[in-house]
Amino acid sequence: MKSDHYEILTATFGHLKDGREALIYTLSNANGVTAEITNYGATLVSLKAPDRDGTIEDLLHGYDSVDGYAGSKNPYFGASVGRFGNRIKDGKFTLDCKDYILATNNDSGGIPCHLHGGVDGFNRRIWTATLRPESNAITFTYVSVDGEEGYPGTLCAEITYQLNDNNDLTWTAVATTDAPTVLNMVHHPYWNLSGDHSTSINDHILMLPCDRYLPTNVGLIPTGELASVIGTPMDFTQPTQIGLRVNDQFETLEFAGGYDHCWVLQQPNVNGLALAARVKDPKSGRMMEVHTNQVGVQFYGGNFLSPEDFQGEFASGKGGLAYEYRTALCLETEGFPDAPNQANFPSTVLCPGETYEHRMLYRFSAE
Ligand code: BGC
Repeated sequence: MKSDHYEILTATFGHLKDGREALIYTLSNANGVTAEITNYGATLVSLKAPDRDGTIEDLLHGYDSVDGYAGSKNPYFGASVGRFGNRIKDGKFTLDCKDYILATNNDSGGIPCHLHGGVDGFNRRIWTATLRPESNAITFTYVSVDGEEGYPGTLCAEITYQLNDNNDLTWTAVATTDAPTVLNMVHHPYWNLSGDHSTSINDHILMLPCDRYLPTNVGLIPTGELASVIGTPMDFTQPTQIGLRVNDQFETLEFAGGYDHCWVLQQPNVNGLALAARVKDPKSGRMMEVHTNQVGVQFYGGNFLSPEDFQGEFASGKGGLAYEYRTALCLETEGFPDAPNQANFPSTVLCPGETYEHRMLYRFSAE
């Protein structure tokens, strides 16, 4: 493989119940880092990277074939989520004096809400792939028609994955609409940097360069406050072991059953990206940085992972694994959850003539 022209492998990833075939593509770089991506949901299936001794392992929870991803218990493993990532209160919002009703496909604390774009969100659609070996990238496109999952406007969405020889994987989402709508596309991989997916992520060391976060209520909807992290278990401004305070008596942590909140990011720097998170696994030495141009980062500590969801009638995880509680974490850069209902939050409205662009960069290293 020459660095000016990469080879992108394509293979089958199985068939959906309606007979459509899903494909899986492999990007690789000069250091042995690989990313496997399927056109089902523009989903990141695996990310393999070396530890401090050069041992390459898969850092992502997921399934061995498309049936698992299409299964009813898939908790959005690796997904490209849309149209709106995270929760919308009561599955309702008003835009330009018109009320919109969305699916209430989640029930948090006994209160129904809309989650991650609805029943058949972007993560359950087959995207059209264009391979770009000259830049080691794949671009996926999808047209979401007016009214799909209750959202207004026909939306043309594009997601590009690119891997370079600095061990950076980028995920870039771009979209335009023909009518005003709301949009918050989110990338949703579940990481365990140890590569051992049966172990807890509570020993990972996390740094979030954020002095505020969004407290949530019993239904996991932001209260509207941008609260200071100082003196609370939400303070990750210094690298801190995730498990150290996760079970503290702290109301919003108790409502969410652990970490499942949006932290407020600083403004992007001159390159348009700012550091959103740095996480390290002390055992393997693997480290991942997340950079973004978004206003928030959702840190979710895998509190809803449950082995029963990977047994019996439900697809098992990779290699037959039934993933346990808190064995993976998500760091999802995003607009603020429930922004369509919260006038004080940065707007997530997209109008005709505007271009939505969500840039995300994952940087892998080991020390
Ligand atoms: C949310 C969690 C949710 C998970 C899987 C995360 O983005 O914050 O509350 O359980 O996605 O759906």
